[in-house]
Amino acid sequence: MPRLERLPEDHIYQAYGIYMLESKHRLIRNLKKLYSPSVHGHKTWRSSFVLMDYLKEYPIKKRSRVMEIGCGWGPAAVFCAKTFKADVTGVDIDKDVFPFLDVFAELNEVKVKNKVSRFENLSAKRLGKEDVIIGADICFWDSMVKPLYKLIGRALEGGTTRIIIADPGRPTFYELADMCSKKYRTRFYEWYSIEPSRSTGEILEIRPLKIK
Ligand SMILES: C[S@@+](CC[C@H](N)C(=O)[O-])C[C@H]1O[C@@H](n2cnc3c(N)ncnc32)[C@H](O)[C@@H]1O
Repeated sequence: MPRLERLPEDHIYQAYGIYMLESKHRLIRNLKKLYSPSVHGHKTWRSSFVLMDYLKEYPIKKRSRVMEIGCGWGPAAVFCAKTFKADVTGVDIDKDVFPFLDVFAELNEVKVKNKVSRFENLSAKRLGKEDVIIGADICFWDSMVKPLYKLIGRALEGGTTRIIIADPGRPTFYELADMCSKKYRTRFYEWYSIEPSRSTGEILEIRPLKIK
């Protein structure tokens, strides 16, 4: 097991070099009185740690432009800003996730831009401004498969060079991976994270057929 630093306050923990707050932390308890994320963006999901572990193995180029779609509290967004000095935008359909993301960014002394948008409304031009698009646990309903598949197509058309999605292994995610593998250059891995505790999941990485 990795040796984690002893932290000065309760309900703070560290994973992959970033500080995170548990739901019991007083700041999170207070934010929850004011904001109520309603599309499952009410906590940090474990696929984010699986994604971080993968990015440690297959890093993003320093100072890349990165967009996290369905960012929720944005642990992976904060990780990319901190670890790769990336210029990161967190996108979510639910504006109530952003106060939590802002606290995590502040805690880790990084900036992550906020953007309220649904997957369907991100154009090829907007997506193509990003070198890398990431997502963690964002394909959990049948209705998400097609919008995400189309978003991936638009991002590649716009010029994005890596799209990486982590998932705990939901049938909807396998369906998305299967659709992508028929059309794009994809890699699919079983993966696990070891911080803050062991979690298992899957990684789908999509790259353009030809690098522009
Ligand atoms: C299960 S949570 C995962 C959050 C974060 N990625 C994590 O790992 O902690 C899914 C997130 O996707 C967002 N979401 C759901 N449908 C969306 C859509 N159509 N467009 C953009 N974001 C969406 C939700 O608001 C929520 O924050």
